[in-house]
Amino acid sequence: PLEKLFVSDARDAAHVGKTVLIQGWIRTRRDSKGGFSFLEINDGSCMGNIQVIADADLANYKDEIQRLSAGCSVAIEGEVKASEGKQATEIQASQVTVLGWADDFPLQKKRHSFEKLREWAHIRARSNTFGAVARVRNQICQSIHQFFHENNFLYVHTPIITASDCEGAGEMFKVTTLDLDRLAKSGGPVNYEFDFFDKPSFLTVSGQLEAETYATALGRVYTFGPTFRAENSNTSRHLSEFWMIEPEAAFFDLADDMALAESFLRKILSDVLNRCDEDLQFFDQRIQKGLIESLRKVAETPFQHMTYTDAIKVLENCGESFEFPIAWGTDLQAEHERYLTEKHVAGPLILTDYPSTIKPFYMRLSDDRKTVAAMDVLVPGVGEIIGGSQREERLDVLTQRMAEMDLREEDYWWYLDLRRYGTVPHAGFGLGLERLVQYTTGMANIRDVIPFPRTPGNAEF
Ligand code: 4AD
Ligand code: MG
Repeated sequence: PLEKLFVSDARDAAHVGKTVLIQGWIRTRRDSKGGFSFLEINDGSCMGNIQVIADADLANYKDEIQRLSAGCSVAIEGEVKASEGKQATEIQASQVTVLGWADDFPLQKKRHSFEKLREWAHIRARSNTFGAVARVRNQICQSIHQFFHENNFLYVHTPIITASDCEGAGEMFKVTTLDLDRLAKSGGPVNYEFDFFDKPSFLTVSGQLEAETYATALGRVYTFGPTFRAENSNTSRHLSEFWMIEPEAAFFDLADDMALAESFLRKILSDVLNRCDEDLQFFDQRIQKGLIESLRKVAETPFQHMTYTDAIKVLENCGESFEFPIAWGTDLQAEHERYLTEKHVAGPLILTDYPSTIKPFYMRLSDDRKTVAAMDVLVPGVGEIIGGSQREERLDVLTQRMAEMDLREEDYWWYLDLRRYGTVPHAGFGLGLERLVQYTTGMANIRDVIPFPRTPGNAEF
């Protein structure tokens, strides 16, 4: 049998002279007057295509090859040849087998808007943009696991179905069961949904609380899984279902946490720069001019830090007119985050020491009793990409804060136990994967960096 080559390999001159098998999808066909056709084949292994030359003397030239159009799947046998064109190589076909036709394939040469492509979520991965997003997203995931592995963080799996509302924002999807018997007997549109085995349960908004149980036993851990937010936000940076990376480390304070977040982000960016060059060139040319240059700078320069209090002063005195008024004690809106990262520092910014009133119960109260040991990492274009904190390890302070926020101790009894039995300082953060993919690709809308976006009113397929 012939050696199967990916297009990414076939484009390498090292394979010149070999007879190989290439399998993929047609991007374009051009017929030359000299009695042969050029087929551009893509198989997703890289952004680029391989050019195949199909001569008129191939048995199925008239009947099939000349009918090939964008979207058709083919298997090509042929010889890898050095090419004079833009690419180092091309394939001289000895056989072209059509695997599947593609009449009326929606992705013709004409470029479609990203809005339109969202209607074709099952097809859009065949486009250059979505192929490139998928490869960059994959590289980021690989680098995440590698980074934590190299830094002695253990990968733990936290549950998706849970009873606890980590962020205390009440933005959870409820999990219920259907009683199909009663549904069948009712014969009508009666709702026979029940709590999950008679206990209220929800889809998790964060694996943090459970990750803390493992951090206070194993030292350094991280979770990486889907999380869910039932917030009715229709913005370019909110999803109802997104993937979150959450490291949690015992014996870490806020400074350790910030240093971890920074080295983590720099490692991911340099990996993407080193390993996804072709895809980044595409984003740089088509999506965001200057992207590579700015990512390179971020990968090499220490992040700036600022307290929330100082950031409020900057925003109050900057002379910009914001839609949402800003004052100490209010949460920052996207427009404020963008001002700080795009105009004030022109790069990533770590904001620290937020008012306790706008942050969740688990963040460690500072000596001023007004702020908590929190940190958010903000980046240009996207805004908040990471949210983290040192955790409240003192039982008395924690229970008092819970009382102030009307949280019932019995709902968090196991979380409080961690403070009863050998409590230690610890810290962690959460990174939204899709926001990081947006940042590294320059894609404007978060719906275009996850294969099947889930947003309010959109869970069709
Ligand atoms: O700031 P958040 O809500 O923090 C937590 O959930 C903490 N428990 C994390 C931790 O300390 N372990 O969310 C963390 C990050 C945000 O900075 C953002 O990048 C992302 O998750 N995120 C979302 N991404 C997409 N769509 C949404 N609706 C998001 N909500 C948060
Ligand atoms: Mg946050």
